[in-house]
Amino acid sequence: MRHFLDLDLLNAETLGLILNAALKEKRERGFSKASALAGKSLALVFEKNSTRTRISFQAAMQQLGGQSFVLDAGTSQLGRGETIADTARVLSRYVDAIMLRTDEHDKLEDMARFASVPVINGLTDKSHPCQIMADLMTVQEHFGSLKDRRVVWLGDGNNVAVSWVQAAVAFGIPMTVSTPASMQIPQEVQDWLANQGGHQVSFSEDPGAVAGADVVIADTWVSMGDEADAEQRLATLAPYQVNEACMSKASASAVFLHCLPAHRGEEVTDGVIDGPQSLVFDEAENRMHIQKAILLWCFGLLDEA
Ligand code: CP
Ligand code: NVA
Repeated sequence: MRHFLDLDLLNAETLGLILNAALKEKRERGFSKASALAGKSLALVFEKNSTRTRISFQAAMQQLGGQSFVLDAGTSQLGRGETIADTARVLSRYVDAIMLRTDEHDKLEDMARFASVPVINGLTDKSHPCQIMADLMTVQEHFGSLKDRRVVWLGDGNNVAVSWVQAAVAFGIPMTVSTPASMQIPQEVQDWLANQGGHQVSFSEDPGAVAGADVVIADTWVSMGDEADAEQRLATLAPYQVNEACMSKASASAVFLHCLPAHRGEEVTDGVIDGPQSLVFDEAENRMHIQKAILLWCFGLLDEA
């Protein structure tokens, strides 16, 4: 079963295969695979809000000739306590793949354990692998390759940061994760990292780590589910804002990425996100192209590397 649960569960060859397929798909405007998923359907299960993930998966399925169905916790029996295990078993009788956006990562693992179709991680409190595949695609598209591009993450050590760290390990990307001490990536991910040989991931509490970066990345300071201590987060993270002064310390050819939605004036200024170094709307578009490649891989329709 080809689940797409986390980047550390797939090797660099497979991730590269998916990335290259998405880049090709974008160049050819999807025509080469127009009926690749005819007769296939995808359930999109949301226990948290979404704009990009929801519509990019729906557009991807539609453009590949398949169909998708959205199930929101608030309007389904999930919201009344039906288990993920039972939901997985039922949906597997109706559809060919399931995407889940949820809070606890354990729920995603339950979905994969009890489903008899491929399961895709559409964001959990731990990770957001589809997003980082789109980010990698955007970097590769812009610079021509991922090689030797220095990536700096500024802000909260959240789910998006974790998937970026996993990607940096897979591809040998030099990456610095700059967070306040109280907001580092989870200990279990740091422990995993300690067992990876030869990676180039480092940590810093100094937002000045942005010096010389080729790719500067920010995300919201208050992720979905973190609202309880929002005020304290905003205060602690204020020095990590990506503003014009911060970007001026990065490489002159540096680009800015943000998974969106952005909280303008908090983690990033209008001047940066709307400025010439920002690739955020290419990045958002690439969500759709990469979802196509992820779906094709899950269905065994991409050539092996
Ligand atoms: N970046 C991202 O996952 O956006 P949505 O929350 O809108 O899906
Ligand atoms: N870190 C953010 C990403 C949103 C796409 C969150 O989890 O809310």
